[in-house]
Amino acid sequence: MLDIAHLEVVYHGVVLVLRGVSLHVPQGQVVALLGPNGAGKTTTLRAVTGLLDLHEGRITKGTLSYGGLDLASVRPDEIVASGVAQVMEGRRILADLTVEENLKAGAHHAPRGQIRDDLEKHYARFPVLGERRHRAAGYLSGGEQQMLAITRALMSRPKLLLLDEPSLGLAPRIVAEVADLIREIRSEGVSILLVEQNAAMALSLCDHGYIMENGQIVLDGSADTLKANEDIQEFYLGTGGGDEHSFREVKHYRRRKRWLS
Ligand SMILES: Nc1ncnc2c1ncn2[C@@H]1O[C@H](COP(=O)(O)OP(=O)(O)OP(=O)(O)O)[C@@H](O)[C@H]1O
Ligand SMILES: [Mg+2]
Repeated sequence: MLDIAHLEVVYHGVVLVLRGVSLHVPQGQVVALLGPNGAGKTTTLRAVTGLLDLHEGRITKGTLSYGGLDLASVRPDEIVASGVAQVMEGRRILADLTVEENLKAGAHHAPRGQIRDDLEKHYARFPVLGERRHRAAGYLSGGEQQMLAITRALMSRPKLLLLDEPSLGLAPRIVAEVADLIREIRSEGVSILLVEQNAAMALSLCDHGYIMENGQIVLDGSADTLKANEDIQEFYLGTGGGDEHSFREVKHYRRRKRWLS
């Protein structure tokens, strides 16, 4: 349902950061986009939601389509109206507004009755949001703020949800709660594109994953295939010196080691 093909994105007219990215999010699936800092993950999401303009970015090649809609040629609000919602990196809740005002801000032009029903449903799922509905959202804990940010995105009843590093900065117990929430959202039929640096979390719940480095997809496969891949285990699942080496360097190093022995 979301199809990205051969996408190139340039910032400020000169810096090429996506270099021919193709990826696919089928209806009802969770697709993970993994990769180190600066790989181009957030840029990919910005291209989908039409927000590149805000960052002096531009699509120079390739196509993006969502259920037949050409995303590169419509406005961001039309993209939202077509059923796409995004939770940005770093949560981005409105700290001075109440919990309920934050949630209503996510509902866009939904009818009042629907907003009321959805609020009740979400408060039942997260009683803490219900209890604090009239308090400033800035007083919630980090984990609660992430739940609020994701719930706010659900208020528009999206068919495709884009999540940018929802586990960032959260304690392991809270990361597990976020993972449970993502599974639950999927079970309600929403497709999800999950950007993560936490590969263990993402591979524990996705159907398919893509590894992005330096603006290119270097590997993709089912969650099981990726989990079984030695290079992924070494670089992304925590056993190797992941932060200093790119996936490609690790691969190169392994090949050399094999060749020398
Ligand atoms: N507005 C911008 N202008 C110029 N360069 C940018 C801009 N935004 C991002 N970049 C550059 O584009 C590249 C990709 O950035 P992007 O934010 O998409 O990476 P990312 O994979 O989301 O990284 P992170 O894991 O750190 O969030 C980086 O080199 C970054 O410095
Ligand atoms: Mg990012």
